[in-house]
Amino acid sequence: MKCCKMCSKRSFLLVMLLLSGFEHIFGSEDVAHHSAHRVHYHKSSRRHRAIADGELRFEPEPYSKKLKLNSSGKIHCKVAGGVAPTVQWFLNEADPLPEGVSSSNGTLMVADAERRHSGQYTCKAVDGEKTITSKINLDVVVTPRILEPVAGQQLHVTVGQTAVLNCVASGDPPPTTHWDRNLTILGKQQEGVDTEDSVNATSARFLLMNNGTLIIRNVSAPDADQYGCTAGSAAGLDRNELQLIVHQEGELPPQESSGVAGKAVVVSISVAGAYMVLVLALMVYCRRRRLRRRQRGEKMELEMTEGREKLVEEGEEEKQKANGSAIQNGRLLGHEKDSGADNSEVSGISRASKKSGQYEHLSIPRTLLTEQITMGRGEFGEVLLAKIDMTQVNKLRNKDDGETEPKLRPVLVKALTTKDEIHLAEFRRQLDLFSRVRHENIVRLLGLCNEADPHYMLLEHTDWGELKKFLIATRSPEENAEYVSRVGAEHAPPAPARRAAPLAPQHRALLGAQLAAAAAKCALHRFTHRDIAARNCLITSKLQLKLSYPALTRGPDSHEYYKLHEQVIPLRWLPAEAVLEGDYSTKSDVYMFAVTVWEIYTKGELPFAKLNDNSVLERVKSGSLEWTIPDSMPEALGELLKRCWSKSPSDRPQFTEIYDELTVILQDITSESTSQKSQDKTEE
Ligand SMILES: *[C@@H]1O[C@H](CO)[C@@H](O)[C@H](O)[C@H]1NC(C)=O
Ligand SMILES: *[C@@H]1O[C@H](CO)[C@@H](O)[C@H](O)[C@H]1NC(C)=O
Ligand SMILES: *[C@@H]1O[C@H](CO)[C@@H](O)[C@H](O)[C@H]1NC(C)=O
Ligand SMILES: *[C@@H]1O[C@H](CO)[C@@H](O)[C@H](O)[C@H]1NC(C)=O
Ligand SMILES: *[C@@H]1O[C@H](CO)[C@@H](O)[C@H](O)[C@H]1NC(C)=O
Ligand SMILES: *[C@@H]1O[C@H](CO)[C@@H](O)[C@H](O)[C@H]1NC(C)=O
Repeated sequence: MKCCKMCSKRSFLLVMLLLSGFEHIFGSEDVAHHSAHRVHYHKSSRRHRAIADGELRFEPEPYSKKLKLNSSGKIHCKVAGGVAPTVQWFLNEADPLPEGVSSSNGTLMVADAERRHSGQYTCKAVDGEKTITSKINLDVVVTPRILEPVAGQQLHVTVGQTAVLNCVASGDPPPTTHWDRNLTILGKQQEGVDTEDSVNATSARFLLMNNGTLIIRNVSAPDADQYGCTAGSAAGLDRNELQLIVHQEGELPPQESSGVAGKAVVVSISVAGAYMVLVLALMVYCRRRRLRRRQRGEKMELEMTEGREKLVEEGEEEKQKANGSAIQNGRLLGHEKDSGADNSEVSGISRASKKSGQYEHLSIPRTLLTEQITMGRGEFGEVLLAKIDMTQVNKLRNKDDGETEPKLRPVLVKALTTKDEIHLAEFRRQLDLFSRVRHENIVRLLGLCNEADPHYMLLEHTDWGELKKFLIATRSPEENAEYVSRVGAEHAPPAPARRAAPLAPQHRALLGAQLAAAAAKCALHRFTHRDIAARNCLITSKLQLKLSYPALTRGPDSHEYYKLHEQVIPLRWLPAEAVLEGDYSTKSDVYMFAVTVWEIYTKGELPFAKLNDNSVLERVKSGSLEWTIPDSMPEALGELLKRCWSKSPSDRPQFTEIYDELTVILQDITSESTSQKSQDKTEE
């Protein structure tokens, strides 16, 4: 069965290939090495020809933008070549600009963004007879704002009563919310906590309603605590806290109650503890099992997955090695043999053409996409956020669950707008990665819109979006001010502070472990990710990490990328061998993983923020780049990261090993905090 599924995915990709009429590229199978720079020398020689004839062109192509309501923004449209081009902006195809939007020297300017400014705009460059146009989307979004509870609100209840804690937020797109208790989020994994739809909803004491309200039934003294409501969407995050004060029967609020509330805080056993214990128990169980397996002499890498899958794959790869050589005579392969297409599964054209019909089911009509918001541009085209109706998708896939209500899910849309072979190959490589590697901490490929150009890759997205933005939102005003003063305002633009609850120590380590598990799974399938960074990870409102690939090389994250030899690379996240030799491997992913964990602990700081790109590059070349371990990081984790940053790739640990070590670190943190709690209790 597994084999069939695998083959079907492969054939699907073949169909893609056949449809687009492009040859596929092969990579060395081993640890998925590739040499990007060599590829790019070819690319630049192609480019030179274009520059020589001075053709009118956009440089760079303008990109879409998301503007906050009432904010101002600019979209540049720069042209090169031609004789004396004039550049002008229009609404839609050729309509005059709306009031409040102006165009000057090719720059579209919005002074005070309003909802009605959202829409498609066209930049038109005219040079004599010649005209070129480029379309972008402008989206005006409204950052979430919590209306209820108001900051610092108190709620007084008497023992035995029901407490209703509303969490109401406004924003566009509509935000989703979660409750935390004393900074640990509430979820149905915890004892006594349940959601409205659950079968046990009537008996749960803590009930999370779909409208965002938290209901606490039969309140008792230990329930008194600080409860926080966080609202998040693609447009941002907001958080307010409410203090629940519990009174004994007949007691008069509020003055006399403070003592009771204070005591209650100490007595209370963190509900979240139960969840952590559960997660840990699972991790420990898995680890034990793996260790046992290892003792039985099985292969290291087997541990992250079901053994059968692996065996099947090895068989496949053998076949492909034999198969691949025939196709390597293809036109492109002179220089792209080593371009990192470790997705060897696309090898057998004969195999796929037989089965091509089976892969239709990944195709999704783009009419199912709604509420598109442009995030920026990635390696091969625009990146959008949209909603997709999963009920319709399931119907398409014949997985009709009888639902008729639309189930809207956020989806990341990566458009393939370039025709460059290198970009096409990268598009396929990512399709492949997300279709083949299934893991709860990796986003899923939901489908492909390929009925027309541009093709869209649809990746699962989370309600709260980018991990990086979330991390920045957890900074307190003091922490944010300290960062800005340390590295300078030009490197760290002041961010709105403390819009989300800070992550507890266990939770930070847990995010690291989730990322390690995701990366280990990629490595197992012989995929390299090549852009592991907080900006490419997502977080859910339940604080689960998912590895994704927005890679907004142009747009809001562009300062995290650097153009070297005609290639845009995440310079500050890469080890020297990747920067200097274009050598990407699982071991360069290990290095990038460590940088991402560093980001989690520094609350989204830019690596080497004080240095400009050229200084970073100089230090990479001279091997003098030194990472510092944040104070908040457990010592063992710091040591682990240092090993991941080893100059020699072979000195860096395997992801499986990293995951195991993180499990132990997590265990230590949790047992420490548990013993702390029991100590508190005995003192009482
Ligand atoms: C935007 O400005 C309008 C009027 O100036 C104001 O009523 C509204 O509250 C503002 N909205 C936000 C989100 O700041
Ligand atoms: C437009 O460009 C011209 C020449 O480059 C410059 O003199 C003028 O100030 C610019 N206008 C604006 C509004 O930036
Ligand atoms: C509901 O409660 C019963 C008994 O308390 C328990 O056995 C069952 O697992 C619960 N179901 C869910 C979905 O939590
Ligand atoms: C949400 O639903 C609960 C129960 O139906 C209700 O008590 C509460 O007031 C609702 N909250 C809001 C904000 O409407
Ligand atoms: C409320 O909780 C108390 C213990 O805190 C328990 O004795 C009582 O039976 C509960 N009442 C209801 C109606 O569940
Ligand atoms: C809430 O968190 C603080 C700091 O982490 C801790 O000192 C306190 O004991 C916690 N209270 C409860 C009720 O868990």
